[in-house]
Amino acid sequence: MKGIILAGGLGTRLYPITLGISKHLLPIYNKPMIYYPLVTLMQAGIRDIALITTPEDYPLFNKILGDGQQWGINIQYLIQPNPEGIAQAFIIAKDFLQNDKCCLILGDNIFFGEGLEQQMIQAQEAPGATIFAYHVSDPERYGVIFLDDNKVPLYIKEKPANPNSSLAITGLYFYDNDVISFAENLKPSARGELEITDINNIYLKAKRLNVNIFGRGIAWLDTGTHQSLLEASQFVHALETRQGVKICAPEETAWQKGWITDDQLIQQSKYFDKSDYGPYLRSLIKQDR
Ligand code: TTP
Repeated sequence: MKGIILAGGLGTRLYPITLGISKHLLPIYNKPMIYYPLVTLMQAGIRDIALITTPEDYPLFNKILGDGQQWGINIQYLIQPNPEGIAQAFIIAKDFLQNDKCCLILGDNIFFGEGLEQQMIQAQEAPGATIFAYHVSDPERYGVIFLDDNKVPLYIKEKPANPNSSLAITGLYFYDNDVISFAENLKPSARGELEITDINNIYLKAKRLNVNIFGRGIAWLDTGTHQSLLEASQFVHALETRQGVKICAPEETAWQKGWITDDQLIQQSKYFDKSDYGPYLRSLIKQDR
């Protein structure tokens, strides 16, 4: 299973903040946004990751994440010159994916909660495709899934006006290798994008789509507007302050997974001694002992 993080796009709904910088490099409280989807993939046990971004933003991502070796993972960078749709990710990543299955995560999506890791591991073992839906109050902003009375998925619609379903499709998707040829055969939508909803509908029609609904124990936040960006920071701040933990620190996940040693964690923590991040990383080892 390989991972793809899609972190291109223009971020126009965050203008003027994103006039000069990718939204995925903005802070969500105390970490760059890109840490959150990256760590979600790491939590799923995925170590081979392609990050897709724009030609202009690539150097900054490389500066922050490097090749991933420091966290026992492999990060490659691929370029999407123009934001021509989420499903274009599979065409851009074709050589990276080869014959493997993949997990795609949107770079501005944050997932957190009990049982998430387990659900992601199950999704990797399931045949076909697995997507995750979440009850939201503003479904018209998302791809929405409609179910029949027996909770069987009927179809998915992109940004429907006044939907009678509140189930939004989240930005975390697992696919078998057929996703590449499905993407290659897609036609752009009316808004000129290769739509992930069209891919999901292909799997749905072929009865190869598993739809899991995230329960209340899981938080899903997207950070694409001024309001949701601020709320995501407030959410992370509230949880971290209350519980004394950090959400989505790559060093912590790498160490928990056994991909880096105690010594490597201590070494890396020293970069961060001027903030509470470094002492926090070292405190993990003390607690463990
Ligand atoms: P969007 O929020 O749909 O697009 P955007 O980030 O460009 O923002 P805006 O609508 O404000 O202009 O994208 C969701 C995520 O997918 C986001 O992390 C960016 C990424 N993305 C790409 O990398 N390439 C694309 O072609 C598209 C459509 C999205």
